[in-house]
Amino acid sequence: MTTRILTGITTTGTPHLGNYAGAIRPAIVASRAADADSFYFLADYHALIKCDDPVRIQRSRLEIAATWLACGLDVDKATFYRQSDIPEIPELTWLLTCVAGKGLLNRAHAYKASVDKNVEAGEDPDAGVTMGLFSYPVLMAADILMFNAHKVPVGRDQIQHVEMARDIGQRFNHLFGKGRELFTLPEAVIEESVATLPGLDGRKMSKSYDNTIPLFGTAKQLKDAIARIVTDSRLPGEPKDADSSHLFTLYQAFATAEQQAAFRAELEGGLAWGEAKQALFTLLDNELGEARERYHALIERPSDLEDILLAGAAKARKTATPFLGELREAVGLRSFREQVGVAGGEKKKAAKSARFVSFRDEEGSFRFRLLDAAGEQLLLSVAFADGKTAGQVNKRLQSGEALDVREQGAGFAVWLDGACVAESPAFADAAAREAAIARLREALTPQE
Ligand code: TRP
Repeated sequence: MTTRILTGITTTGTPHLGNYAGAIRPAIVASRAADADSFYFLADYHALIKCDDPVRIQRSRLEIAATWLACGLDVDKATFYRQSDIPEIPELTWLLTCVAGKGLLNRAHAYKASVDKNVEAGEDPDAGVTMGLFSYPVLMAADILMFNAHKVPVGRDQIQHVEMARDIGQRFNHLFGKGRELFTLPEAVIEESVATLPGLDGRKMSKSYDNTIPLFGTAKQLKDAIARIVTDSRLPGEPKDADSSHLFTLYQAFATAEQQAAFRAELEGGLAWGEAKQALFTLLDNELGEARERYHALIERPSDLEDILLAGAAKARKTATPFLGELREAVGLRSFREQVGVAGGEKKKAAKSARFVSFRDEEGSFRFRLLDAAGEQLLLSVAFADGKTAGQVNKRLQSGEALDVREQGAGFAVWLDGACVAESPAFADAAAREAAIARLREALTPQE
C-alpha cells in the first residue's frame, strides 16, 4: 500500500531557512520513502487571497519552484505542480462549496480573526473580508480531496483546515457516494521532530517578524544575516551557555551529533561570538552551497521550469481528470450522450453494464426487461407461459446471432423465428429511436 502525501505551499514570499528546515527538507525526505506517493504543489490560487501584487505572485512562484527542485525533489517520483494548472481544482471547489456548511466556514480561525479584529475596531464585522478569504478552506479541501491524500503535512495553524476538508469530504461521500467512499478522508500530520527555527532575534523565524535568514541569497547575504543574529554580551574567552543561545539552536538544526557536541564544547570554552557566527556560516554554506548553485541556474532558465511544472500538471491531471468525471457523474452532471447512444470509447463499459432483469408479471407470466448502462429500459419482453421459454429467448438474444429489429410505432420490436419477442418503449422521435437501437445492438454484442 502506498501512502499519498500531499501538501501545498502558498506562493507569496521567498523561502527562508525556516521554511527549509521546517517544511521543504522533511517533505523531500518523506517523498523518497519507497511507499510514498507525494503530491507537492504551489498553492498559487491561495496566494491570490492574500496578495494583489502580480509581480510578487509571479516572482514567488518561480522562486518556490526553483527552491524545491534545487533542494533535490525528484519530480519523476513525486508529482510537483502549480494548483492553477489544474482546472479540475476550481471545478471541484464549486462542487464542495455546494455541500460545505456556511456555519462550518464561519468557524475558520483565519476568518474569525479578521472578524474579531473588525469588531474590536468598531468596524463592520466583514469589512475587508473577501469571499476568497471566507472560502479559503473549501479551496484547500479541493486540493486535498482531488487527489485522495491520506496524509497532509502542515503547520499547526493549518490543522483546522485539514479537519474541514475531512468534514466536507465526509458530507459529500454521504450525499453522493451511495455507500461508497468517493473521497479518502485526509489526516493532518504534524512533524514533532522537525525543527522550528528561531530567527535572528530568537523569536520563531518568520517573514512577518522580519527576522529571517535567506535560503538562497548570495554567500555575502548569508554572512550579513548571520552577523545580525542577536547574542548576549559575553566577551571572547567567557564561557557561553549553548542552550540559551539561538545561534546554537540554528547550528543544531544542520549539524551532526558530533559537530553539535564539538561546537557546544567550544562555546563553553569561551569561543568568541564572532567566531561562532563564522562557524555557523561555514556549516550553512556547506549544507546549502551546491543547492544554491542549482537554484540560481534554475532561476535563470524559467522556460525549463515552466516545462517541468507543466509536465507535473499533466501527471497530476491523469488522476484529476477521470476522478472529476466520476464526481460530476455522482452529482448528476452527466453526458446526455450516454442516454441516447454510446460513443466508441465507452463501448465496452456500456455493453458490460447493460443487463437483463427477469420477473413475473401480474398475470403470473414470465417476462424480462433489458436495461441499458444508465438503467433505461431498452426492451420489455412479451409474456411467456413458462420461465424456461423466457430464459431461452433471453439467451438467444445474447448469443450474437443477427438481430431482427423492426420499427414499430414510436419504438421498435425484436423478432425471433417470425414472432415478436420483445418491444421497446415509445421514443420522442426517430433519432432517439435510432440511438436506442444502436445501444441495443451494442448491449447484445457478446464480449470477448
Ligand atoms: N494553506 C496552506 C498554508 O498556507 C497551503 C495549502 C494550500 C495547503 N492548499 C493546501 C497545505 C493543501 C496542505 C494541503 O500553509
